[in-house]
Amino acid sequence: MKKGLFITFEGGEACGKSTQIKLFKEYIQTRQDKDNFVFIREPGGTILSEKIRDLLLNFRQDAPTAKAELLLFLASRAHLYEKVLKPALEQGKIVVADRFYDSTVAYQGFARQIMPAQEILELNKMILNSLTPDLTFYLEIKPEIAFKRKGDDILDRMESEPLEFHQKVYEGYRFMAEKEKNRFAVIDATKSIEEIQSQIRQKACNLIEKYYKQK
Ligand SMILES: Nc1ncnc2c1ncn2[C@@H]1O[C@H](COP(=O)(O)OP(=O)(O)OP(=O)(O)O)[C@@H](O)[C@H]1O
Ligand SMILES: [Mg+2]
Repeated sequence: MKKGLFITFEGGEACGKSTQIKLFKEYIQTRQDKDNFVFIREPGGTILSEKIRDLLLNFRQDAPTAKAELLLFLASRAHLYEKVLKPALEQGKIVVADRFYDSTVAYQGFARQIMPAQEILELNKMILNSLTPDLTFYLEIKPEIAFKRKGDDILDRMESEPLEFHQKVYEGYRFMAEKEKNRFAVIDATKSIEEIQSQIRQKACNLIEKYYKQK
């Protein structure tokens, strides 16, 4: 079924995902094939999924239990997959996502320990018909360093978790980067914004060229 390309950005809090995606998007806007790109974020990306995002990150009045949290993330993803991701890939689009299932393994698997990573991967397989990203930029940085970037921002429910939680998130990403080496581009997120962007453009453009050639 899949014809397009699927590129994801991953990493712990404040590693620079959104900063890099914004710059990448600006670059894409200068390309002739710009209409061939779709940008999404997780949780979110549809009206329903954005509502779920708000429940997951900001609804402290009756915050979801651990299992409910996992299932809400998956519900948001299942809906995004059916409504946006699958149709876009079927049309041959290049989809760029801010977070995807590696985040669920890292946060709900490793940090929250709701269920083993392997089972979380199985659940994702089920809702995504076994779709995996073609390329994942993992912006790696120790949480104690990343958190210094946050400044006085108001923290959401995940960001408010203690440092040990975020250290386990870091281990979760390491696990996925080892497990699915072929699609992972591990990037040193302590480097400058410009240097990281240049690495990302190079890798992404290589893959995009190859994709157009084999079309
Ligand atoms: N390479 C970098 N060096 C220094 N500061 C950076 C770098 N990249 C991003 N920042 C700064 O770190 C902060 C967090 O960046 P950003 O919002 O892009 O991270 P994120 O990974 O999207 O975070 P979240 O997980 O909360 O969505 C911002 O203030 C940003 O300007
Ligand atoms: Mg972000």
